[in-house]
Amino acid sequence: MNICYNQTGDDMERLQKVLAQSNIASRRKSEEMIQAGRVKVNGEIITELGFKVNPNDVIEVDGSRIERVEHYYFLMNKPTGIVSTASDEKGRKTVLDLLSEEHRSLRLYPVGRLDYDTAGLLIITNDGELTHILTHPEHEVEKEYLARVDGIIIRKKIVELRNGVKIDGDYLAKPKEVRLIELDKHNQTSLISMTLIEGRNKQVRKMVEAIGYKVKKLTRVRYDFLTLEGIERGSYRPLKIHEVKKLYGNSLPKSQ
Ligand code: URA
Repeated sequence: MNICYNQTGDDMERLQKVLAQSNIASRRKSEEMIQAGRVKVNGEIITELGFKVNPNDVIEVDGSRIERVEHYYFLMNKPTGIVSTASDEKGRKTVLDLLSEEHRSLRLYPVGRLDYDTAGLLIITNDGELTHILTHPEHEVEKEYLARVDGIIIRKKIVELRNGVKIDGDYLAKPKEVRLIELDKHNQTSLISMTLIEGRNKQVRKMVEAIGYKVKKLTRVRYDFLTLEGIERGSYRPLKIHEVKKLYGNSLPKSQ
């Protein structure tokens, strides 16, 4: 199973992208380095930004050879009761413990966080550039959550949520979308879908508390166009190359 790829799907990559992905510098800084004549490919100074390299090319920056980093991308359906950091100071089980031994050795980390008690979609990778794109609010990547809430939410409160509520003191948290999906009169609970662009700590729970209710159960069901379809709780799959490309493509700043 091929799970490691560059985003183009062929072997050729733009020089500035390879530099950025090898954690040399940001894409923009890498471009500046190329234009300043600090980058050599196979011993020759390259100042052209469109220049493409293949995996066998030897790249040097300021005379030092760079290590090419291979990237891996997985989509996990996180269960509750584990942490989504790469390591836990309290020694609790982490999402990386759910990876196979082979994948655990790849030094991967989760993109953003889900609470210990939150389940659902988590992307796991070692691609710092994609992580930055996916987690920076500027790129407006949608994250959709299903929240089972204690009590019957009245329509006026849904409108309040849609208009934005104050959390963390003075911060106005405004969701991209809120939908009331179900009122369970028998169990006195409500099910809502909330789509967020930003990802503040415990944001959904805090927003629901701000309208006077409490989240009983929270699941992230969508990250951009990716869903949990076909992935059982506690398992994961590699992202397909077209999915990785789409994540990069969909996430360009809206001004570009
Ligand atoms: N909002 C929360 O409250 N918790 C999560 O884990 C994610 C979003």
